[in-house]
Amino acid sequence: MSRFHCSPGGCLRGEIRVPGDKSISHRAVMLASIAEGTSRISGFLLGEDSLDTMRAFRQMGIEIERDGDRLTVQGRGKTGLRAPAEDLYLGNSGTAMRLLLGLLAGQRFDSRLTGDASLSRRPMARVTEPLRSMGARIESAAGDRAPLQVHGRGELQAIDYAMPIASAQVKSCLLLAGLYARGELRIREPAPSRDHSERMLRSFGCEIEVADGTIAMAGGQALTATDIDVPADISSAAFLMVAASIAPDSDITLCRVGVNPTRTGVIEILRRMGADIELSNPRELGAEPVADIRVRSAPLRGIDIPAELVPLAIDEFPVLFVAAACAEGRTRLGDAAELRVKESDRIQAMADGLVALGVDARPSADGIEIDGGELTGGRIESHGDHRIAMAFAVASTRATGIIEIRDCANVDTSFPGFVELARGAGLGIENDDN
Ligand code: S3P
Repeated sequence: MSRFHCSPGGCLRGEIRVPGDKSISHRAVMLASIAEGTSRISGFLLGEDSLDTMRAFRQMGIEIERDGDRLTVQGRGKTGLRAPAEDLYLGNSGTAMRLLLGLLAGQRFDSRLTGDASLSRRPMARVTEPLRSMGARIESAAGDRAPLQVHGRGELQAIDYAMPIASAQVKSCLLLAGLYARGELRIREPAPSRDHSERMLRSFGCEIEVADGTIAMAGGQALTATDIDVPADISSAAFLMVAASIAPDSDITLCRVGVNPTRTGVIEILRRMGADIELSNPRELGAEPVADIRVRSAPLRGIDIPAELVPLAIDEFPVLFVAAACAEGRTRLGDAAELRVKESDRIQAMADGLVALGVDARPSADGIEIDGGELTGGRIESHGDHRIAMAFAVASTRATGIIEIRDCANVDTSFPGFVELARGAGLGIENDDN
């Protein structure tokens, strides 16, 4: 059982490069594997989640060479995957499972997707239902949950689908299935969600149109190999952005961070709270914008978080709740029921943890209210959720006592090396592996 032991206080300083973007890493391996030719990926996230995706494609006959964070993928074209001899185990990763399901629905072979206890509890109807209406044959466990058995017959039909939730995983699943479908695929989003799939499909030569919240793509398109340089993950950078904001005397620069506007809700929310965040050196890394982000300590104030920013900061709420706990006044969040079906129920897990540290945090069905105040030390249950564990490690910079966080091994799913990097930057964090 891996535990974090976090001493109170500390300030953050220096230039920091966090690991590669998880969403982009998953997509890069998937698209490179079904493209014609050799693609090189640099800055690939060596986290458990994206490594599980890489392993799944190796199981389907794709040759992938890895040298540090550089991958060379020998794409075999859209119909070049081979039937896997065994289950494809996708660990903790909802993105891997939902995106792969779309891709596998279009194959001419059967496959079975499994995951860990958390992934096996997560809702899959959001992808199985539209895929079934495209003609996919998928069997799932009770309540449309993993394991998922796919009977691939290669006979999908494109659909016109109005997504009930703003979900990049659902959108991307359908786009991948659309590559194997007849007709024109149309997906209507209720609100913008991350658009890495649309950008990357274009890099691989696919034609996609996006207008007024509708994504249109002719089915059956083929992909041509390309090289992908993965930016640093803004979702990982967010932990350090909040830590540097709340820990007095901090001044850090996060280098080469992805600042795709469908991901920068965390910057917008922190700025509205009074954070001192400066972007410099903006540039394009392939299809994705990146910048260096300087963050200095600043007094934060509570705000009402606008609903339209929720999908743009969906993974950053655990650490944003810590920012709220350290802010003056009340922060209110609604329209965020999705947080209850992430790697853990993040509304409940964060509310329980904040209350354990003496904070007044009141969860609701789709959000939370947090009154900023003093944080004590305490024992925190992360529920095996990487982002809950890292959020409370950040809280220790403002706690009056030691914070001990249980069940932290899954931090490696998205942020390998977090403890060493955070300690190097100034956090008093140790990993007790016992
Ligand atoms: C992701 C989309 C988000 C996010 C997840 C990664 C992706 O999920 O929470 O960590 O890579 O597409 P939803 O699209 O289901 O909100």
